Amino acid sequence: MGYNIAIDGPAGAGKSTVAKRVAQKKGFIYVDTGAMYRGLAIHFLKNGIHPEDREGIIRACQDADVSIGYEDGVQQIYLNGENVTGKLREEAVGDMASKSSPIPEVREKLLMLQRSLAREKDVVMDGRDIGTNILPDANVKVYLTASVETRAKRRYDELAAKGISCDMEQIAADIQERDYRDMTRDNAPLKKAEDAVLVDSSAMSIEEVTEAILELCE
Ligand code: DC
Repeated sequence: MGYNIAIDGPAGAGKSTVAKRVAQKKGFIYVDTGAMYRGLAIHFLKNGIHPEDREGIIRACQDADVSIGYEDGVQQIYLNGENVTGKLREEAVGDMASKSSPIPEVREKLLMLQRSLAREKDVVMDGRDIGTNILPDANVKVYLTASVETRAKRRYDELAAKGISCDMEQIAADIQERDYRDMTRDNAPLKKAEDAVLVDSSAMSIEEVTEAILELCE
């Protein structure tokens, strides 16, 4: 069993930014499980499946193979052998990932991959159900959150920096909708594990959050 750091929390809380820094400082690998759900989502979209077509999604799971690799330390996602990393952040992909991830067959598909990575290597793994379900015995568990306003502002700034025009209220509404879906699904919903440390990053810098998590590892 490797040393496992589990970081869960809602979209936009800063999980991936912080997890990458913690991984770098510790010399661990960073495993972004949301990217795996996004990889599967690309498969569903490629097959023309509607996000509400539960049966279609279950059927399509049978011929999807998601695997990960690292290039210069950066996680790559392969879907049936093709590197789809560049497409993971598209809006439609995130929407499909959020809508298809409650389906047990979808989660089942990724569970073994996530657990076996953590068994073999020292990892910082982020997602929604890592501390509660995937790695219940993780050495360190963090529930990283921030207010909806903070998360919407971060997303807004990120898009604005790329020259993409967007509406703050719409972003906040989308975040709330995704939170609701992730937190209320029957199967492995997003929630704080009882033994996870709650970190609210609303008024914290990336460095402060990273330091707080590193201190928990000592
Ligand atoms: O973290 P993210 O935005 O890349 O995740 C996309 C979706 O994948 C998210 O809305 C819910 C799902 N997901 C999940 O159900 N379980 C995880 N461990 C990670 C992500």
